[in-house]
Amino acid sequence: MTKIFSLGTVALLAAILVAPVGQARAADLDPIAIRQVGMALQTGSFGFIRSVVAAKGDVKPLEAPAKAIARWAAMIPAVFPAGSDKGGDTKALPEIWSDRAGFEKIAMTMGEAATRLAVAAKAGDADAVALEAKAIGDQCGACHRGYRAK
Ligand code: HEC
Repeated sequence: MTKIFSLGTVALLAAILVAPVGQARAADLDPIAIRQVGMALQTGSFGFIRSVVAAKGDVKPLEAPAKAIARWAAMIPAVFPAGSDKGGDTKALPEIWSDRAGFEKIAMTMGEAATRLAVAAKAGDADAVALEAKAIGDQCGACHRGYRAK
């Protein structure tokens, strides 16, 4: 019989299994840093969508960034947990927590527009893509006006 695992591999596996992975992740991940990076990446995805719309280019490649925005929108509530109103250089306003329903509704509305944009992009429907791109942009603006410090 071939020896599949060397002793070193077994020791490494044991170390990985024993390590308190969940705790380490919870302690190390800073929600403020994560949401700021997410927002910055989203700006790139949305900028690409807008530039293709403005240039009246091929909308098919917009399916992927639109799906990414939809997935990110669904994560927005999770990266604004209670207690993350202060720290770092956060611009999050207290209204995010005092008017949670309003905040989450904007994120959800943006996600729905992004999902529709992905479908329209896949179908090559440039008019629908342009419409949904505007709907996404409206939600960026609405949320920043109400829930982000200048
Ligand atoms: C549901 C609310 C919400 C939506 C929707 C939203 N944002 Fe934000 N955004 C915020 C908040 C709150 C902050 C501040 C986060 C912080 O500093 O902790 C922020 C921060 C940012 C930042 C600064 C990131 C940094 O480097 O600090 C950019 C850029 C940004 N948003 C772009 C966008 C764009 C583009 C869209 C739309 C495609 C969008 N946002 C949609 C709430 C939102």
